[in-house]
Amino acid sequence: MPTDFSFVHFTDTHIMAGGAWDNGQVDTSASLRRVIETINALEPAPAFAIVGGDLTSPDLLDRGRTLASDEWMPSYRLLREIVGGLRCPAHFLLGNHDDRPAFHRVMGDRTTNLDATQHWSFDHGGCHFVGLDSLVPGKPWGEINAPQLEWLDADLRTHRGQPTLVFVHHHPWPLGLAWMDAMSLRNGEQLISILEHHPAVRWIVCGHVHQDYEVQRGSLTMLTTPSTCFQVSKVSQTYKVLAGPPGFRVVRVSGPALATRVLHLHGANGAAGL
Ligand SMILES: [Fe+2]
Repeated sequence: MPTDFSFVHFTDTHIMAGGAWDNGQVDTSASLRRVIETINALEPAPAFAIVGGDLTSPDLLDRGRTLASDEWMPSYRLLREIVGGLRCPAHFLLGNHDDRPAFHRVMGDRTTNLDATQHWSFDHGGCHFVGLDSLVPGKPWGEINAPQLEWLDADLRTHRGQPTLVFVHHHPWPLGLAWMDAMSLRNGEQLISILEHHPAVRWIVCGHVHQDYEVQRGSLTMLTTPSTCFQVSKVSQTYKVLAGPPGFRVVRVSGPALATRVLHLHGANGAAGL
């Protein structure tokens, strides 16, 4: 039986060392610092954080060329410094704006096989948590490669019966927003077919879409979490980005029950006016 605890999911931090997004309109570092300040103030304190990909995006500062891997490293160093302010451990996923070798070199201790996918699982309080890597270098859409799918199926078999939450950057199910759905998880149905064979999997939690959504099919619910910096319009069907407000998700586990809420940070100052 799971014990009671909470954790946070924050995503699409889009750290860009040496610049700000949209010609200086959105300072993604300042935005993330405010989110972390708010997370640190949460009562009860979260046991851990899951950071959902698009961790850094120096590519957005110079869309006219393809950046070398080394050019991501200052942004990962800045991310490491900011996330170092969290009072709980953090588990990282990668998104379409990330760079695997630079991530491994700065955020991990890996010195070989720098193209290895960043997937993991762990247990906490009787629940099982799984993170998948959907990054396809150079592409806005995502895919879970075959070795990860095999690993996932085996991992879920090993943890059969434990309430399980799966995390991945790209959304596997369409949201009805055509331009965003064109860059979803390309083999989403393949992933879902594996998850549906494991009824202990309750939620799949995504980033990428810079909006909060809930989609339910059968016993499986997909949640998406807004970005810690800029958001996407919920009104327009065309690409329209909003400067904020920063947001993140809190999940509360109480025995067999899962509850969640999205917090948005309103106002220019303070930690969400809480
Ligand atoms: Fe993003």
